[in-house]
Amino acid sequence: MIATYNLAAFVRDLDALVARHGDDQRAIVTAGKPLLARLLQDMSWLDPRCCEPRGPSVQYLLYKHPADKFSITATVFDVGYHTTVHNHGTWGLIGVYHGTEREERYKRIDDGSRPGYARLRPAGEALNTPGAVTHLIAPEEDIHRIFNLSPHPSLSIHVYGADLDGRPRQQFDLDTGEIREFQTRNVFLA
Ligand SMILES: [Fe+2]
Repeated sequence: MIATYNLAAFVRDLDALVARHGDDQRAIVTAGKPLLARLLQDMSWLDPRCCEPRGPSVQYLLYKHPADKFSITATVFDVGYHTTVHNHGTWGLIGVYHGTEREERYKRIDDGSRPGYARLRPAGEALNTPGAVTHLIAPEEDIHRIFNLSPHPSLSIHVYGADLDGRPRQQFDLDTGEIREFQTRNVFLA
């Protein structure tokens, strides 16, 4: 039987990679991208319950590093859902497994001196189909918005350089410049 790449193998490789590259986020996402692409090729290890929407958006926790070096979730966006414009505060890799997700990227262009206010400019967009892996690097490539364009729920694997569960993050209003704090919660299926 041919051994396939699975979540445990991905975690092992990512752990070694993060240990090697330390705080160099760009090096981590560059080296991690082909690993996540490889993981997406055979997702037979994924609990089918993690493909189910629970409201507009849900993050099922797949792995949490014991020293909080990284976390992995299966994220499901229901039909018609799009996220807010938001940040993460850490590096990230997002690989699409099922569906089509449009990602809009933004860059902050104000100097941060006005509390609760940010000016953003568009910094590109991508149409991400199954197998595509996109990245985040904080703070300069950390703000985006994702749309599920599929006629069914979309599922992507999100890898972040920390567990984002309950972590304060920021949402940005493109029209008014207002910044709002928010947080997301992971769902863990026993
Ligand atoms: Fe995001």
